[in-house]
Amino acid sequence: MDRLNDFDPAWMDQYVMPNYGRFPLWPERGEGPYLWDTDGKKYVDFAGGVAVCPLGHAHPEVADAIAAQAHKLIHVSNWYCIKGQAQLARILVEEIVRIPGKCFFSNSGAEANEGMIKLARKYGVTKPLPDGSPRYEIITFTGSFHGRTFGAMSATAQEKIHGGFGPIVPGFVYVPFNDAAALKQAITERTVAILFEPMQGESGVNPATPDFLRTVQSLCQQHDLLMLLDEVQCGLGRTGETCGWRSIIPGDEIQPDAISWAKSIGSGYPLGSFWIKDRPLGEAHPQKLCDLLGPGTHGTTYGGSPLACAAGLATLNVILRDNLPAHSATLGRKIAGEVASWKQPLITDIRAFGMMIGFELAEAALMAKTAISTSGKIASIYVAKAMLDAGLLVVPAGPKVVRWLPPMNLTDAQAAEALAIFKTVLSDLSNLS
Ligand SMILES: Cc1ncc(COP(=O)(O)O)c(C=O)c1O
Repeated sequence: MDRLNDFDPAWMDQYVMPNYGRFPLWPERGEGPYLWDTDGKKYVDFAGGVAVCPLGHAHPEVADAIAAQAHKLIHVSNWYCIKGQAQLARILVEEIVRIPGKCFFSNSGAEANEGMIKLARKYGVTKPLPDGSPRYEIITFTGSFHGRTFGAMSATAQEKIHGGFGPIVPGFVYVPFNDAAALKQAITERTVAILFEPMQGESGVNPATPDFLRTVQSLCQQHDLLMLLDEVQCGLGRTGETCGWRSIIPGDEIQPDAISWAKSIGSGYPLGSFWIKDRPLGEAHPQKLCDLLGPGTHGTTYGGSPLACAAGLATLNVILRDNLPAHSATLGRKIAGEVASWKQPLITDIRAFGMMIGFELAEAALMAKTAISTSGKIASIYVAKAMLDAGLLVVPAGPKVVRWLPPMNLTDAQAAEALAIFKTVLSDLSNLS
C-alpha cells in the first residue's frame, strides 16, 4: 500500500462523514481566479472557498510567505510572544479598523465569534444589574450566520442550524433583521450586547440599512450594550471598504465595540481574529474594554501561530498595498451594471458590494420548469450546479440567491470571462420548458 499515492474516489463516501451535500467536483490545483479538477477541466472560481481567497489561489507572495515560515517555525505556544501576532494586530487596528483597540487570534470565524460572545458575558458580569446579577442576553437577527460551534450556532437565528442539537446555549434573543422597532422592544434589563453581520452573507448578501446601523448604535449607547460586528465574511476589503459596515455608512460615524474576522484574513490558511475597542468601562471600573479578557480568561492552542500570522501578514499586505478594496468596489459596480443591462428575467435583484455580489433568482419561474422541479434541488442549488457544469463556480445562499465571491484582485478580462458563462447559462435556463 502506498499511503501517499493510492486513492479511490469511493473512499470519500466510505470514510468521510456525510455532513455536506457535496458537488461532484475534485479540485486539484488553482491559480488566481481559476481552479482545475483532477480531469483537467478548468473553472472560474467565484466561490473562492466561500469568500476565503481574497487574492485567488496560490498567490505567489502568500505561498512564499507560508513556505518560508514553515521552514523557520510553524508553531509555538501562546505562552510566548509571537512576532507575527504583534505585526498583524497592528495592521488590523491601525489600517483596517482605524480605531484604537487590541486583537485576539483564533483559527476560524466561529471561534472569533465565541470570543466576542465571551466578551459580552464578561461585560455583563463586570457591569451587572443593580442587584448584582449578570446581564447576559445577546440580541441577534434572522438570516444571520455566525458559525457551527455551540455558542456561534446558538447565536445564529436560524432554526435549521439548531435543529436536532437542543438545548442550545441560552441567552440569545432573535429579532427580525433591519427591524428597528422590534429591536427596541427586545431589549430588556438583562440585555448586554447586539451581535450582527453588517452585510449578511449566508442568507444572500443582505446589508443592514443605514438607519438600522444608526439605531443599533444609539440603542447600545442608551442601554450600555456592546455593539458586536461579525465581519467574518464581509470584512477586510471584500465589500469595497476595509470594514464591511463602512460600505453602508462611510467614515467613523459607526464605532463598534468588537469585530470578528476570518475567511479572507489568511487566504485559506486557518486564521480568525477579533478586535476589541480601547475604551474605558466607566467610573467604577479601572479596566479598559480591550483588557477585559485578561490572563486565563480565554485561549487557543493553535490560533495565531507563526505560520498562520505569516499567511495573514502576506495577505493583508497585498490587499492594502494594491488598494484592493477600492478596486473591488469599482469592479463590483461594473459587474452589477453589466448583469442589470441584460434584463434577464431570471435575475430579480442584484446586491453588489465590491466582490460580494448576490444575484436573486426568479425562484417561482425556475421551479415551474419541469427539469428543475423534478430534480429534487432548490432553485439556487440547481443554478449553481448548472454554472459548475459550464465552468463557473458560484455559491448558493438560501433558496433563491447565488453569490459571487471573486478574488479582490480580479481583472476586468477575468470578470468578462465569468460574465459570458453566467449569461449563457441563464439564457439556457430560461429556455427550459
Ligand atoms: C458571517 C459569518 N460568521 C461566521 C462564520 C463561521 O466561520 P467559520 O466557518 O470559519 O467558523 C461564517 C462562515 O460562513 C460567516 O459567514
